[in-house]
Amino acid sequence: MFSAVDTRTQLPIVGMVGGGQLARMTQQAAIALGQSLAVLAESPDDSAALVCRDVSVGAPNDLAALRAFAAHCDVLTFDHEHVPGEMLRTLQSEGVAVYPSPDALIYAQDKAHMRRRLAELGIPVPAFEVCAAGEMPGRITTFAEKNGWPVVVKVARGGYDGHGVWMVDGPSEIPAVPAAPTFPPIPPEAIVVLEQRVPLVRELAAVVARSPFGQAAAWPVVETVQRDGMCVEVVAPAQGLDPARAAAATELALRIADALGVVGVLAVELFEVPPSAAAPDGLLVNELAMRPHNSGHWTIDGSVTSQFEQHLRAVLDYPLGSTVPVAPVTVMANVLGGAAGDGVGEVGGGGDGAAAGAGAGDEAPDGGSIGMDERVHHLAARFPDVKVHLYGKAFRPGRKLGHVTVTGDDAGALRRRAALAAEWLGSGVWADGYQIHPVGDRQVLRRADGLTGRHGVSTVRHEGQGRI
Ligand SMILES: Nc1ncnc2c1ncn2[C@@H]1O[C@H](COP(=O)(O)OP(=O)(O)O)[C@@H](O)[C@H]1O
Ligand SMILES: [Mg+2]
Repeated sequence: MFSAVDTRTQLPIVGMVGGGQLARMTQQAAIALGQSLAVLAESPDDSAALVCRDVSVGAPNDLAALRAFAAHCDVLTFDHEHVPGEMLRTLQSEGVAVYPSPDALIYAQDKAHMRRRLAELGIPVPAFEVCAAGEMPGRITTFAEKNGWPVVVKVARGGYDGHGVWMVDGPSEIPAVPAAPTFPPIPPEAIVVLEQRVPLVRELAAVVARSPFGQAAAWPVVETVQRDGMCVEVVAPAQGLDPARAAAATELALRIADALGVVGVLAVELFEVPPSAAAPDGLLVNELAMRPHNSGHWTIDGSVTSQFEQHLRAVLDYPLGSTVPVAPVTVMANVLGGAAGDGVGEVGGGGDGAAAGAGAGDEAPDGGSIGMDERVHHLAARFPDVKVHLYGKAFRPGRKLGHVTVTGDDAGALRRRAALAAEWLGSGVWADGYQIHPVGDRQVLRRADGLTGRHGVSTVRHEGQGRI
């Protein structure tokens, strides 16, 4: 009843609630499919709102805004987990196609529901208990008596990137009042999950997609590296992963997608642990995301079909695309805003003229006053094979501003390259001391990385330029 193909192209309109970078990158994939993503953004300045033509501005928990938005879309899907399930059920009852459905989405919205459901399904998860935040002092103590210290505490709803997750190391740290670092105050009635801190070997992710027809596709299992609870790097495929364990991880993800009736991309965050009775395959499920996910960004440059295209195909019930990698290894590193004062977004940040290759070359040698435009310029000059994805966001320390991807066959070299590139973009500092302004005003584009030629970029003499 809401079916609303684009009258010009006769192609369907997918509506995504949320205007963040995931919607922005889904729009990129939509363009290639001849479509244009419709976005319900909270602000016209949101990452996706800047690149989509069809933007509605409204809150994700405003039923009237959701209803008006859905009225001109074929399918409603999400770039985040913040739409209340009861509103989605109302829309469904009014004939809106909602993918993933609220019955599935709840397990990505609420960690308590997710833990209980996965445990019921016999999926290996860390030992856990659910309680109200106000009960924490007593409950943490009894939980630790059974499962040992430290105890991981997680708010059931609203956490992300490590916000809303904290470790209680011992009895003296038991919070007298419900409080999580870097998270809004938690009311005593809010639900939290208490979890055993598992003996992590490393973190993995299995990203799959499932269509309403029931078709499923899986990318290779990746390693995800977290810093302060936030994903900073993804290596695809996870290096040195036992093939049987990789197959078990993929199977777990496909089983979850099927059992929960997921439609679209499902990312399953996993802990690799020493095998035990609780984790016979050496795997425990951490959490679920039912949308494109940071652990799948590598697929834009590293796979025949990106997770963003796959999500569109799935929610439209198109046949799914090939998930075959295009290179032996792909590494993705997130670009996080560096410490305040890095120059990005500041007046006189030094970006002017960099793209044109002009400028006086008068920045501080530590890169402290180098603007983003010039960072991109220097990155391109040093690493012509690194793919840059910036999200159009204003700079803030610690904020995910974008990511970089690099493909090849030597995981170690690619990781170094991606980390250098991401840090340079985020903070204006080359961690290896690389000098963008070496002594002398006539420089030859460096051969030092062995890049020239291999990437089809010839050595260029920048006559009269002090910048390169
Ligand atoms: N039970 C646990 N044992 C060990 N580390 C954990 C545990 N739970 C979470 N972590 C660490 O905290 C990170 C964030 O936790 P997660 O539950 O994924 O929350 P978020 O929603 O913020 O991503 C994980 O990626 C992992 O590094
Ligand atoms: Mg997580």
